Amino acid sequence: MRIVFTFNVRHVKPALKKLALDEAEFDEPETIKAIHDAIVANGHTCIDIEADENAYGKLKKIKENIDLVFNVAEGLRGEIREAQVPALLEMLGIPYTHSGALAQAVTLDKALTKKIWQYHGLPTPKFAAIGLNEKPYVEGLRFPVLVKPNSEGSSKGIFNDSLVEEPGQLIKKIRAVRKQYGNGVLVEEFLPGREFTVTVMGNSQPYILPIVEQNYDIFPDTLKKFASYEAKWLFEDQLPNPHEAYVCPVKISRSLEKLIEKLCIQAFEVLHCRDIARVDLRLDAQGKPQLLEINTMPGMLPDPDVVSYYPVAARAAGWDYTRMIGQIITHAKERLNI
Ligand SMILES: Nc1ncnc2c1ncn2[C@@H]1O[C@H](COP(=O)(O)OP(=O)(O)OP(=O)(O)O)[C@@H](O)[C@H]1O
Ligand SMILES: [Mg+2]
Repeated sequence: MRIVFTFNVRHVKPALKKLALDEAEFDEPETIKAIHDAIVANGHTCIDIEADENAYGKLKKIKENIDLVFNVAEGLRGEIREAQVPALLEMLGIPYTHSGALAQAVTLDKALTKKIWQYHGLPTPKFAAIGLNEKPYVEGLRFPVLVKPNSEGSSKGIFNDSLVEEPGQLIKKIRAVRKQYGNGVLVEEFLPGREFTVTVMGNSQPYILPIVEQNYDIFPDTLKKFASYEAKWLFEDQLPNPHEAYVCPVKISRSLEKLIEKLCIQAFEVLHCRDIARVDLRLDAQGKPQLLEINTMPGMLPDPDVVSYYPVAARAAGWDYTRMIGQIITHAKERLNI
């Protein structure tokens, strides 16, 4: 097939402040190269188009010669950023991998995602969503709660001190997070149990890859047991053996595994996700799984010594990097009847 690969790539090193933050969700050049090479290794031709403001014109020019777009573009800015490229592609009538514009937009909004799950009776922690200009008023939640920006990823805005134990501290925290991210916040009951992340794949019959568990046993006492910014980027990144940060395959009962599988597939289906997504979930105090969020374009870092959950799960399934990329293309082809 003639595949066009759309992506957003980092131009600055993470240290350079403002631009670095704008690009925090973008992929490293090594990842872009690895995906490109894997598309080719699957027997396709691959043209790279960076998803910047010129992407529309470039796609339009060659649209007659594109069979499929492999899209991992995070989008440039705004509350529907991940839906930007899918929307352009729909306008041009070009088929693409991963979720459609609608699911990409909805899943960027954690509160909206949770409301859809709730409508379908799927368990997700109790929460309050507070818009940017709304009065910070929260009622009926059991403490501790976690305060997080409603529409960020990669643990942006989730710090060790985002876990609020005291109702008296809450308003201050809500105001601070809103101010920093210029966005609404989600105040959510904290789930203290084991944490899992699960890759769901396919379309008419979705299935899961081996479940990955966060390893909280290795955390020092100073770090609260959740994937905060400090935990991900300051602690886990410095581990001599990065593979200690997770457990895969997990040691859980067959019944819990079945329950998680069913829950994640339902979470994927009710949001109309396609081809692949990664669901984050945790056990509550009673040991029951509850959904936290879903990522429609899971990271795919090629270096096996840098933790990236889809590659971790894929390797546990016996897939190499080429197969990992190929599987997404296969599911898109089946879905689109190409
Ligand atoms: N209600 C909760 N109870 C317990 N832990 C939570 C809760 N919400 C979030 N967390 C913790 O915070 C982490 C980050 O939260 P979440 O997955 O919502 O944010 P994210 O930044 O979008 O994540 P990602 O890096 O997967 O994009 C979770 O992996 C989990 O450890
Ligand atoms: Mg997450």
